[in-house]
Amino acid sequence: MLSPSLLSANFANLEAEMTWFNQSSADWLHIDVMDGVFVPNISFGFPVLKHVARICQKPLDVHLMIVQPEKFIGEVKALGAYLMNVHYEACPHLHRVVGQIHEAGMKAGVTLNPATPVCVLKDIAADVDLVLLMSVNPGFGGQKFIPHTLDKVRELRELLDSTGSHALIEVDGGVNMETGKLLRQAGADVLVAGNAIFAAPDPAKACEELAQL
Ligand code: DX5
Ligand code: ZN
Repeated sequence: MLSPSLLSANFANLEAEMTWFNQSSADWLHIDVMDGVFVPNISFGFPVLKHVARICQKPLDVHLMIVQPEKFIGEVKALGAYLMNVHYEACPHLHRVVGQIHEAGMKAGVTLNPATPVCVLKDIAADVDLVLLMSVNPGFGGQKFIPHTLDKVRELRELLDSTGSHALIEVDGGVNMETGKLLRQAGADVLVAGNAIFAAPDPAKACEELAQL
């Protein structure tokens, strides 16, 4: 599956971006919300996303790179999001937050930063619908893929199998045709790609090619 990242889209013409996107082979739209505290950047907030949600016809995969993400479960639900991703590092009461996301009727994803080991998920893996592994330090598009992520994907697959979890494995950061292929071989289910799609000369074609990996 493929989840193109809105962060790399042309914000001055989102309607045009969504027009090709809605007809593309992308499965979800990946939405990076940043707060300038959890990550050293600010992207966009709910007043903007409300309009994106109105014109996007694909399921929304919302990645909250913010402190206290549980405060915004209602806002994410109001967008009609399919999946809400929260960072392990931002949630001391992760089990409670996952439960609250489910109660709100959304799929729950847990995200790990590059320095956070996969083993911390042992006691929550069976309760989540997706694990998102960051393959760059979150905050910016267009960064270089961290190769160690490939080992983490393999390790996560083992952990999910051993805990009986059916969670999908999603990877975010520096994904292109080359790293995407390696990630698929390692066992990734969902690839997020920003620059490799939106900065390509023909974004719809780049999307098509990545979706076929
Ligand atoms: C990074 C974001 C990513 C970003 C990926 O903090 O979480 O979703 O948009 O962009 P690329 O694919 O350009 O690395
Ligand atoms: Zn992301």
